Amino acid sequence: MRHLGIGSVVAAGLTLAFAGVALTEEKGAWGSYQSGDKRSGYTFAQPETRAIQDDDFENPAYLLVDSAAEDWERVEGEAGKACSSCHGDVDSLKGVGARYPVYFEDWGKMINVEQRINYCRTENMKAKPWKWESNELLGMTALVKLQSRGMPMSVSIDGPAKPFYEKGKEFYYQRRGQLDMACSHCHVDNAGSKLRANLLSQGQPNGFPTYRLKWQKVGSLHRRLRGCNRQVRSDPFKAGSDEYVNVELFISRRANGLPVETPSVRN
Ligand code: HEC
Ligand code: HEC
Repeated sequence: MRHLGIGSVVAAGLTLAFAGVALTEEKGAWGSYQSGDKRSGYTFAQPETRAIQDDDFENPAYLLVDSAAEDWERVEGEAGKACSSCHGDVDSLKGVGARYPVYFEDWGKMINVEQRINYCRTENMKAKPWKWESNELLGMTALVKLQSRGMPMSVSIDGPAKPFYEKGKEFYYQRRGQLDMACSHCHVDNAGSKLRANLLSQGQPNGFPTYRLKWQKVGSLHRRLRGCNRQVRSDPFKAGSDEYVNVELFISRRANGLPVETPSVRN
């Protein structure tokens, strides 16, 4: 790996140039979208993109949230239950979106919200799990996390979660792919710089699932991570893999203090 002047890296003949961008950096300028040095992806987004997120009626993610509210009441599976049969109103799950991923004893490892929903489907409802990236799973995940909107992220890494956090941290700082770059090269060292057409954010997870203008669709955090891996020409991991759940734990803990923003809008 060779360094070429300020802010560009060359590996295997490929160049990525980071260009500094002047941002309004007044302390506290971003209100609740900022917590100390932490800044939500919202604060790096274009004003037009932020405006869509600001208006729930404009935000296309609500189409999925609305159908998830119907799924919440729908009896499915051999146990003859709906989510609501056991959980009552969906706002009983307030706080889940701020706390997850959590250590799950039955598995001896971490579980995220998508996985917890599918666990309830297979174990509690005796229904089929929803496919990763299906509208059903994205919508239900968004509906569950929406119950925590505005609450500060408060992910614990105490006790049994600790070794998984350490694995996630290692993943975050590990160079990979043909470009030989770690997550931290883009989202720590170069947050606030431009990479091609994109303004790099801190890569915070507090708005997922998100409606992405580029996808013209709602997408999961793990889909985003696959895209980030591909940007450095590295083979992505499977959505729901231990690698991604552990790095989700690391970045969710890193986001502690930022508000849950689901469903966010990004470009
Ligand atoms: C080559 C640069 C690069 C690398 C390396 C990279 N990303 Fe990204 N990432 C981006 C770009 C570009 C975006 C879209 C703009 C933005 O939010 O930064 C993005 C977006 C994200 C987002 C969404 C932020 C939001 O507010 O919607 C998350 C989360 C994220 N990255 C996590 C990671 C993780 C974890 C890794 C390591 C596995 C990683 N990224 C590696 C370039 C990168
Ligand atoms: C037969 C009862 C039952 C059904 C039906 C059920 N769940 Fe659960 N669910 C549980 C139990 C029990 C827990 C564990 C409670 C705990 O950990 O406090 C749980 C936990 C959860 C949690 C994590 C809560 C937390 O505080 O960590 C989520 C999220 C969840 N369920 C979502 C759903 C969704 C979405 C559905 C419908 C697709 C559903 N559940 C259907 C019984 C059920």
